[in-house]
Formats: sequence, structure tokens, C-alpha cells
Amino acid sequence: MSNTPLEILFERVSKSFSRPGGGPAFEAVRDLSFSVGRGELVAILGKTGCGKSTTFNLISGLIRPSAGRVAVQGHDPYADFAWFRGKIGIVFQNDRLMPWRTAIENVALGLELNKVPPAQRLEIAASWLARLGLSGHANDYPHALSGGMRQRVSVARAFAGKPDILLCDEPFSALDEHTGNALRQEFRNLLQETGATSIFITHSIDEALWFSARLMVFERPARIAYETTLAPETSEADRAAVRDRIRKVLSGEG
Ligand SMILES: Nc1ncnc2c1ncn2[C@@H]1O[C@H](COP(=O)(O)OP(=O)(O)OP(=O)(O)O)[C@@H](O)[C@H]1O
Ligand SMILES: [Mg+2]
Repeated sequence: MSNTPLEILFERVSKSFSRPGGGPAFEAVRDLSFSVGRGELVAILGKTGCGKSTTFNLISGLIRPSAGRVAVQGHDPYADFAWFRGKIGIVFQNDRLMPWRTAIENVALGLELNKVPPAQRLEIAASWLARLGLSGHANDYPHALSGGMRQRVSVARAFAGKPDILLCDEPFSALDEHTGNALRQEFRNLLQETGATSIFITHSIDEALWFSARLMVFERPARIAYETTLAPETSEADRAAVRDRIRKVLSGEG
């Protein structure tokens, strides 16, 4: 980590939401500090409502902290929102494709926003669809695709813009085991190839362990209750201990 350039920095970040009609503000993130180096893969686990998606919204500059500082590549993602165009790709739990656009037009969307010329963006989009095994479906609309295929389109869309950072909010949780595993494997290959920094929200301890990543477990309001790092060579016994510890933390005994 120490010789890797810093990509994402949270310094004592808190985020409260005011409630309609007044009353005490709702605290979604409390005094959260962490940093992520370029090319790192970090999995975030935590119970529903503990502020994981809010953390993503802070990284992508959709909201700004109530206190503390968020820096991404040294910039403030909220204040410098335009500077970040194309630098951050997001894969959501449900694919969020535009129903009126074909698969290839959906993949080309980010390139269009980045003003890549039409012929070139269709070429790039087609190559990403091919990469994800969807060449035959380029001109299909989302409603004609299966859930797994739609999720492949959204992974293609995220990578097509060549983002430095990929934020993934439970991207594979709605897929059956076989489809999910295939896409997970492909996703990991793509991350390695592109060198993108990735933060990955999941509710599955096994998925987080499979990625052999750095793991952060959040408690509510969002802050780090437990953190560890796994390597491909981490032993089965150590993995079992980590799995156990995470279960305890998630159930509030940790
Ligand atoms: N814009 C908002 N206004 C008010 N409250 C919000 C807003 N966004 C999030 N919250 C609240 O902040 C808390 C954290 O929400 P968040 O979506 O970050 O949780 P999460 O960890 O992603 O949960 P899940 O696992 O269910 O997706 C929730 O209680 C939610 O209601
Ligand atoms: Mg969420």
C-alpha cells in the first residue's frame, strides 16, 4: 500500500440527512476514515442501512459530507464533479439500463457523454459486448435480455468508459450461482487487465473472500468495525477464522 499512489481518501467523514418536517438529523456515516490505493480491490460488507451506498455517493460526488473530507485522486468529488466525468464507473445491483436504448447503445452511453465520436464509440461498445459474450445481442433492447445478460451489459458499460475507479453495489447478488460465478471471474480478470481501483459492496462473506481482497466490515452509522486483507495464498484455516470473525461482527458480537 505504502508505495501505491493514493486514489480515495476519507478523513473523518460524517454524513447526516435532515428529515422532512424537522426533527434530529439522521446520521448515516460517522467519523469514517480510510484510504484506498490505486489498483486496490476492496470489499465492503455491512448490514442493510449501515451507509454503504451513501459512502459510494460520497465517492462519486453525488452528495457531500456534513463533516470531514473526501478526496478522490486529490480532488473533491462533489465540488469538482465535472472533472470526474468518465473517471468513475458504477455497476448497480439492478442493471439500471435505459430501456429505450439497445444493448450496444447502453454500453456506448458513457462514451457519448465523453464526446467520443459515434463510429468510434460503437466500435468500442461492440468490442466490450463481445468480451462479455454478448455479440449476438448488440441490437436487443434490455427487456429482451435475461437478468444475467443485462448485468453483463452494465459491466460492459462500466468498463467501456475506461474508468480509473469502479464502484460496484452488489452487482452479482441477483444472479443464479452459475451465472454469478462466471461473471465474477470475468469481472476479476477485467479488473486485473485494466488495473482499475475497485470497491465492491456485497452481502456475501463468501463472495468477499473469493475476491481475496481487502475486506472492510461497516457498522451503523457507517464506520469500520473490522478490517483485514486476504491473499490468494491465505490458508483455508485463516479464511475460516476471518469468515467467523465477520459473522460475529455482523451479528453485533464482534
Ligand atoms: N438521501 C437520503 N435522505 C435521507 N436518508 C437517507 C438518504 N440516503 C440514505 N439515507 C439513509 O441512510 C441510511 C444508510 O443508507 P444506505 O443506502 O447508505 O444503506 P446501505 O448500507 O447501502 O443499505 P443496503 O444494504 O440496504 O443497500 C439509511 O437509513 C437510509 O435511509
Ligand atoms: Mg445500498
